[in-house]
Amino acid sequence: MNSVVVQQPQQLALVARPMPEPAQGEVRIKVLRAGICGSDIHIFHGSNPFAKYPRVIGHEFFGVIDAVGEGVLATRLGQRVVVDPVVSCGHCYPCSVGRPNVCKTLQVIGVHRDGGFSQYSCVPEGNAYELPAEIPDEEAALIEPFTIAANICEQLQPTPLDVALVYGAGPMGLTVVQALRGVYGVEKIVVTDRIPERLQMAQENGADLLVDNSVIDLPTYLAEQGISPTLIVDAACHPTILPQAIALASPAARIGIMGFSSDECVINQQLITSKEITIVSSRLNRRRFPQVIQWCQDKKIQPRKLITHTYSYQQVEQAMALFEKDQKSCCKVVLTF
Ligand code: NAI
Ligand code: MN
Ligand code: ZN
Repeated sequence: MNSVVVQQPQQLALVARPMPEPAQGEVRIKVLRAGICGSDIHIFHGSNPFAKYPRVIGHEFFGVIDAVGEGVLATRLGQRVVVDPVVSCGHCYPCSVGRPNVCKTLQVIGVHRDGGFSQYSCVPEGNAYELPAEIPDEEAALIEPFTIAANICEQLQPTPLDVALVYGAGPMGLTVVQALRGVYGVEKIVVTDRIPERLQMAQENGADLLVDNSVIDLPTYLAEQGISPTLIVDAACHPTILPQAIALASPAARIGIMGFSSDECVINQQLITSKEITIVSSRLNRRRFPQVIQWCQDKKIQPRKLITHTYSYQQVEQAMALFEKDQKSCCKVVLTF
């Protein structure tokens, strides 16, 4: 079988590997589709602090169970499944309070251990969620990115009364916009980005107001419109954004951050406390796959809208280069196996 392997930073190769055998408690998945994510690009360039090499990348994938390890029921054979990349110990403090996504010995499939850009991949059976027949293959690889949105939304508790501001109209910003609109019924959603084509996509995914903050000063624009955001999501993740979000936020607002920048940013406690702002961070997902599968079944989200390109895994280099360099035309790029 073939796997997409980052041998070491900057060295990507299609490698023939022996067929993997599922260990005890694991299932083997014949992979059908996998989405490319910014973190795959970071592992490729050596800029992901958690990755070890060589590594089979890919953590947004879907396929069919074709073998089971010891202790796994044979009834799982043939199931169409999506994979939760979060592998946790189950007994440390974060695990015991329901937060396996920040397990002390967290292993992310495709980052800390081999992932889904492979014709076959073995994962713990509890990480493989059966996909109902009515959800098509095309949408399946998009479930994982929506679990990121589900996780941050769970913490922010959006309501129809909210006026939301979303920074960034990349895949993460757009999944959040779809969830705010389709799942939580948020009345007004403002999206800011610096790429007009991406703002256009934000509109197609449910945004009401679009602000290109490379040409328009966002605080001035919001003041002119009389908008004081009550819910802010930073899905652009530049360290200058949180201080601005705190300044723009309404009293009693919630702000969600998801960035991994190690650069410092200076924030003002008076602005936070005087408005009693809640700031939450969100990493990956805590068992949100069933919830997002339900969102798909209820047609509350439209994952397909985010897919701009599909390539065979044999063209992975071309697909990753396009995804990285052409943010104007790309949202989600999906590989088929
Ligand atoms: P992306 O790079 O495709 O999208 C980011 C967008 O933000 C781009 O369209 C860019 O033009 C825009 N942007 C950059 N600076 C801006 C600014 N100052 N104001 C407004 N817009 C700005 O990335 P993607 O895949 O959408 O991910 C977004 C971020 O989320 C990344 O930093 C990534 O590391 C992070 N992330 C966090 C996860 C978590 O679980 N916490 C999971 C996945 C991604
Ligand atoms: Mn991802
Ligand atoms: Zn743990």
